Amino acid sequence: MKNIVVLVSGGGTNLKALIDAQNNGEIKQGKITCVVSSNPNAYALERAKNNSIDTEVIRKKDYETFEEYDNALTELLKSKNADLIVLAGFMTVLGKQVINAFENRIINIHPALIPSFCGQGFYGLYVHQAVLEKGVKITGATAHFVNEVCDGGPIIMQKAVEVKNGDTPEILQKRVMEQAEWNILPKSVALFCEGKIKVENNKTIVEE
Ligand code: GAR
Repeated sequence: MKNIVVLVSGGGTNLKALIDAQNNGEIKQGKITCVVSSNPNAYALERAKNNSIDTEVIRKKDYETFEEYDNALTELLKSKNADLIVLAGFMTVLGKQVINAFENRIINIHPALIPSFCGQGFYGLYVHQAVLEKGVKITGATAHFVNEVCDGGPIIMQKAVEVKNGDTPEILQKRVMEQAEWNILPKSVALFCEGKIKVENNKTIVEE
């Protein structure tokens, strides 16, 4: 059984999708053992507590340097014996130390089809705003491993979602979550825990 630690910052609907997948047996070989939030007021923390999952809060602003924060987060994750770390709406960019300590063991969910609408500044509603400004007709979500390049790690799974006339960033965000994120994130986590994802040359081979 793999220990899954989920990092959050906000509402935690992706965390909910992971908890549901654990409860309904979709995630068989892993257990969410801790939820770590960058924000002490995140509703995601309530979701964790309601499901008797251990919680921690770690804020970048409580450390003098980014390196100290990076080191503290790495030590926290090691102390939790994390086998897999999931960024489920985690809004702080990770440092080198944590990325190196957990190479190919950190999965992020991004609300667009990478390599479109990703990288610095593309997070949360800003992504959907940029999609609507460009006028693309298809968007979606991507589950990928995290490396030092922002949103640049090996892609595990993607799902396309239609952009519709009259969409606002909020309406589109909801559709992308419902049709893509809440589906491909738990699937990717389940496959990882079953040892079915290999990484070669910055690409994944996923055995479904
Ligand atoms: C989700 O749409 C997630 O893909 C996005 O933030 C939202 C969090 O919602 N993540 C990013 O933009 C990361 N770059 P949630 O807290 O309800 O899961």
